[in-house]
Amino acid sequence: MRIVMLGPPGAGKGTQARLLAQRLGIPQISTGDILREAVRKGTPAGLEARGYMQRGLLVPDELVVRIVNERMAEPDAAKGFILDGFPRTYAQARALEESLAAKGQRLSMVIALDVDEETVVKRISGRLVCRQCGAMFHALYDPPRNDNLCDKCNGSLYQRDDDKEETVRRRLQQYREETRPLMDFYANKALLVRIDGTGAVEEVKERILKALETLDGQNDPA
Ligand code: AP5
Repeated sequence: MRIVMLGPPGAGKGTQARLLAQRLGIPQISTGDILREAVRKGTPAGLEARGYMQRGLLVPDELVVRIVNERMAEPDAAKGFILDGFPRTYAQARALEESLAAKGQRLSMVIALDVDEETVVKRISGRLVCRQCGAMFHALYDPPRNDNLCDKCNGSLYQRDDDKEETVRRRLQQYREETRPLMDFYANKALLVRIDGTGAVEEVKERILKALETLDGQNDPA
């Protein structure tokens, strides 16, 4: 299956993509995670992306498309993948379509998580991420057992640089202007499924799995 997760910052794309990836045995490809790792390592891509990310702006299409194409070409993505945070602009959506078509492939489904802005801000402001394994927690909704330590690997937890209020507002604006229009793009291709992203993580996961059942029998469209 080749799935795209769409939704505003903090909608739960990463949380759900991770769960689905485990369940379906295909990789989660998160452009945000790949870019943050590049920034941390100080690679040329990271140096280029850093300023945009710190300001809550989208990183240039060309750079992101290159990163995703490289990642999709790795062997573990041959049977499918979950794209988390990509595409985010028309140019990225078209580039994805082209690179899949070149391999005789197309997307299976685009899942849009519907969450109102008030909820999104609450989720982002409490988010804690493990420095070591990338596991995600929330100070109120999913607190770690030990303060500031990851339940899974004992790594230290931190708040993302771009989770400050001012930057979150800019990210939401970018979403409204650049990414939300992709809902129509994918609805016109009969690929879009809107999922209520509110409620508990497990509830949202069940809604997504139910939507994916509709793909049974046409499991891996060429
Ligand atoms: P990215 O990392 O993709 O950030 P984002 O899209 O803003 O999304 P988030 O990671 O903030 O949220 P999410 O929807 O994954 O929610 P999560 O599951 O973490 O991008 C960061 C930056 O990189 C961008 O601003 C841009 O600069 C650059 N970038 C990345 N991709 C790009 C692209 N394609 N083009 C250009 N630039 C790009 O959940 C949030 C919190 O809520 C967590 O604490 C979680 O535990 C909690 N939570 C999740 N679900 C629930 C629930 N159901 N109930 C209660 N709490 C929940």
